[in-house]
Amino acid sequence: MNVVSTEIMPDDPVVVPEKKAHMDAILDANRDRPGATMLVLTLLQEEFGYVSLPMQNYISEQLKVPLSHIYGVLTFYSSFRMTPIGRHQVNVCMGTACYVRGGPTVIDKLEQVLGVKVGETTEDNRFTLDICRCVGACSQAPVVMIDDDVIGRVKPQDIAKLLRKYE
Ligand code: FES
Repeated sequence: MNVVSTEIMPDDPVVVPEKKAHMDAILDANRDRPGATMLVLTLLQEEFGYVSLPMQNYISEQLKVPLSHIYGVLTFYSSFRMTPIGRHQVNVCMGTACYVRGGPTVIDKLEQVLGVKVGETTEDNRFTLDICRCVGACSQAPVVMIDDDVIGRVKPQDIAKLLRKYE
């Protein structure tokens, strides 16, 4: 679950004119179509990579659907995000080999070092923590992917040092 801020961030699509115009175009093109809520949310997710709470409020007003319905859709489908993705994506492999060889401990340590839970982005927007399935490097379990780098035999005590390379 993402952490959802009630504060409007300066780069939120509802306050950046160019992004807002894009949101409006998506809303206008789809508001009268069947399943408009799902369509609009999917297109906005594709366009911006997330649907923030201020965006949800705006969609709710525009489509005249309750905010609770929008929130329900976003939390039901795991493909939606409510916070932006960080500059670096940290994916901990949770395939069988990685799971049995320490994946959960690696996640615990990453959560502790980054101060976020799986699915969340750090406040400085530097890292998003997630889990992934087998990346095909089982012999090096436990494996963490940071962006496109596959890092094997990860030890919890090395994690802080490892993250320092990704500014
Ligand atoms: S299970 Fe993690 S790389 Fe295969």
